[in-house]
Amino acid sequence: MKRVLSGIQPSGQLTIGNYIGAMQNFVKLQHEHQCFFMVVDLHAITVPQDPAALREQSESVAALYIAAGIDPNKAAIFLQSHVPQHAELGWLLTTLTYMGELERMTQFKDKSEGKDSVGAGLFVYPSLMAADILLYNADLVPVGDDQKQHLELTRDLAGRFNSRYGNYFTVPQPFIPEVGARIMSLDDASKKMSKSNANAGSNIFLLDDPAVIRKKISRAKTDSEAIVKYDPIHKPEISNLMSIYSHTANVSIADIEAKYEGQMYGPFKKDLAEQVAAFIEPLQTRYHEVRRSGEVYDVLQKGAQQAQEVAELTLNEVKRHMGFVLPRR
Ligand code: AMP
Ligand code: TRP
Repeated sequence: MKRVLSGIQPSGQLTIGNYIGAMQNFVKLQHEHQCFFMVVDLHAITVPQDPAALREQSESVAALYIAAGIDPNKAAIFLQSHVPQHAELGWLLTTLTYMGELERMTQFKDKSEGKDSVGAGLFVYPSLMAADILLYNADLVPVGDDQKQHLELTRDLAGRFNSRYGNYFTVPQPFIPEVGARIMSLDDASKKMSKSNANAGSNIFLLDDPAVIRKKISRAKTDSEAIVKYDPIHKPEISNLMSIYSHTANVSIADIEAKYEGQMYGPFKKDLAEQVAAFIEPLQTRYHEVRRSGEVYDVLQKGAQQAQEVAELTLNEVKRHMGFVLPRR
């Protein structure tokens, strides 16, 4: 049994990209491994958040984890801010991180581009993410493609700590889907589908009304060739829609190509809209049940306790390795 850890920021509504790139693998991995799934609220505040919205989104993401099929009896679901060891290990690892490494992070470059003032938290964000992972000595980290670079830095920091202070940290591996690791915008296949894209037609939110989803899919951009073929380089728009189809309907890309051979895009898009709606409707029903029942608070409390047990041990060991005097108990 391996240790698995991942997190999603409560910085906006979750998209189908978050589901396909990350959450779907959370659900799969929970059956075989010891899993920790966080709502990374400390990361969300690296860009300004309205307090009421942060609170709502944090509860919403936790409820979506449950609605998507993460079983709180199998995996620990918790808020990052409920386990203070994250912030503390984050600081310790910040002191091990080089400025040059942080300057090279593409997520930092993207998020800071064109801004007059950039918070220091956005810059040191990857050290906190490394702390999230190393605190649990995670073996596997299920994420979308855009997090590969942060994972690479985490691996480097684990190695640096181990060679400087003695072998302690597990060097984690990313766990990235083969198809769907980067779901693109529906209106521009050169951009990642993102919670923070202001153009509503660009993304499918997990909590979108099914009628809205149908409309968004019918308007999604395609090429003029009208051949349903998976070719992300030459046909990025249709390939993106095929990835969404494959993950929501659980059919292979080859089967989709065979099914729509000789057909135009119309029937494919129509079926895709129905598939996505059929996938999302039960998820939304469950989501509303979870929100109404208030069970999310119990789940978060239990999850934080489970996480804290591990986190406390790790942080003490890390401090001992680094030469801190530990308090008497
Ligand atoms: P974030 O929304 O940045 O907190 O991302 C949470 C998780 O969803 C990370 O593992 C991301 O890599 C993944 N993710 C976000 N957007 C996409 C996307 N468009 N396609 C695939 N995975 C994504
Ligand atoms: N940086 C990740 C993102 O934007 C979120 C994240 C924070 C995370 N801590 C993590 C992902 C630890 C995996 C493991 O998507």
